[in-house]
Amino acid sequence: MEAVTAAWERYAAGRTPRRDVNAAGATTWVNWTQYPDHGPDESLLGPVCGRRVLELGCGTGCNLAHLAMLGAQCVGIDVAPSQRAKAEARWGTVPGLTFQTAEATEFLTDRPDNFDVVLSIFGPAWFTDPATLLPLVRQALSAGGVFAFSHRPPSADPRPRQPLREARTVSRWDYSPHEWAALLESARFTHVTAGIIDPPDSEGEGTLVVRAET
Ligand SMILES: C[S@@+](CC[C@H](N)C(=O)[O-])C[C@H]1O[C@@H](n2cnc3c(N)ncnc32)[C@H](O)[C@@H]1O
Repeated sequence: MEAVTAAWERYAAGRTPRRDVNAAGATTWVNWTQYPDHGPDESLLGPVCGRRVLELGCGTGCNLAHLAMLGAQCVGIDVAPSQRAKAEARWGTVPGLTFQTAEATEFLTDRPDNFDVVLSIFGPAWFTDPATLLPLVRQALSAGGVFAFSHRPPSADPRPRQPLREARTVSRWDYSPHEWAALLESARFTHVTAGIIDPPDSEGEGTLVVRAET
């Protein structure tokens, strides 16, 4: 685990902070895709006001801060300690928003019915064996809870893709929408939708977006 944490620390050190304002003039927003000002908004999660929300791999907390501003009670976890420090420096005064340094499966263990919404944006839902993660997310959610996540789609190119410099340390579970739906249904999730949304221009790669309920 130390090697994985160190890999994510190196990743964090190379990231540019998110802009203060987006193209619509908003100071907080949810960005599900790898492209700025693109993709669905927080409505993918359903109403969040008053809901207990957990983000796995929240990075600097910019997505979660938006949900807290909408009235959700939010916890963001990230395995990289420097991400928590950045998240707290930027969003520490937002009510209903806390950050912890934790690995996703360790955090989720023994937390039955702790959350109404769990999300992961290019986070541990992509980097954790679903055989381990999905049952833990399922038991951490309340009845009628929502689990949503996004990441790059599996490549049609048979050559290994290297989205991260740390690809040899960090494992990735690249499933198609159809495979994700089957995995989630096997883990007793319902109302599963999984698809690839188009990129902002025809040259780019789409984004896999998955949503399921308990
Ligand atoms: C590609 S970044 C995405 C960050 C953020 N969700 C965003 O959209 O900007 C992936 C994040 O997940 C965190 N992460 C990866 N594996 C994790 C795990 N098993 N448990 C907790 N955090 C993890 C990394 O430290 C990193 O901050």
